[in-house]
Amino acid sequence: MPFLRNLIKGPIGVFDSGYGGLTILKEIRKALPEYDYLYLGDNARTPYGTRSFEVVYEFTLEAVVRLFEMGCPLVILACNTASAKALRSIQQNDLPYLDNSRRVLGVIRPTAESIGEVTKSRHVGILATSGTIRSESYPMEIKKLFPDITVTGVACPMWVPLVENKEYDSEGADFFVKKYINELLSRDKDIDTIVLGCTHYPLLLDKIRRFTPEGINIITQGEYVAASLKDYLSRHDEIATRCTRNSKCEFLTTESVEKFKESASIFLHEDVEVRSITLE
Ligand code: DGL
Repeated sequence: MPFLRNLIKGPIGVFDSGYGGLTILKEIRKALPEYDYLYLGDNARTPYGTRSFEVVYEFTLEAVVRLFEMGCPLVILACNTASAKALRSIQQNDLPYLDNSRRVLGVIRPTAESIGEVTKSRHVGILATSGTIRSESYPMEIKKLFPDITVTGVACPMWVPLVENKEYDSEGADFFVKKYINELLSRDKDIDTIVLGCTHYPLLLDKIRRFTPEGINIITQGEYVAASLKDYLSRHDEIATRCTRNSKCEFLTTESVEKFKESASIFLHEDVEVRSITLE
């Protein structure tokens, strides 16, 4: 019943396969502290980066449906892999029958938009999960906006496990951080801008900076996604007025509450209220 659906008000949903989306949530809350947020981490089924298109789509759709059921008028896919593999299908095929008055947004477009002003050489590198790289979403989005930019992508399959296993600060991580950066720069020596196209990677930022030659810009997504959301809400009053504003933030996980709390504190540096749910 569209009449009733339009009345639904609630928090902004933020979804990730695990903890990575917390780096995005943190920046969104900084930029838009007055809004309420409901974060959902599919920690029991992470990582998504090595999964097939069909599986990532199915899992992401389940998460979006759950966040809609919990009253979110707007859901941000704070996961590049989900944005790359599921966003378009959900927007085009599922929203019309789920509830066309709600919105689902991703993180790839706002990141791609930011690149044009940063690169001088017009050669950009993308470091992301295998799924995101294979989807070619970054080159496609960047080419649409800036046809003169050359884009080279390298998959970093070891980086998410390093972060999830809290090894992002360890000496052992150095090897894999250097490996993928060197691979990227050896494929295109003119790269002056590297996009960290996975929401987990900001935790490796110190090491990534250490092993990247000076003069190369490193782009993390949080600030760009937050600025883009702020702009979106200022232009879409019909959505903004349905997002509640009590500065509340709640967390859902498909894993255990204890596990989520322990790891979330690394990303957010605060204690969080968490509930465990199952997705299907
Ligand atoms: N954080 C997700 C992303 O931005 C990847 C993590 C995963 O592989 O599940 O792509």
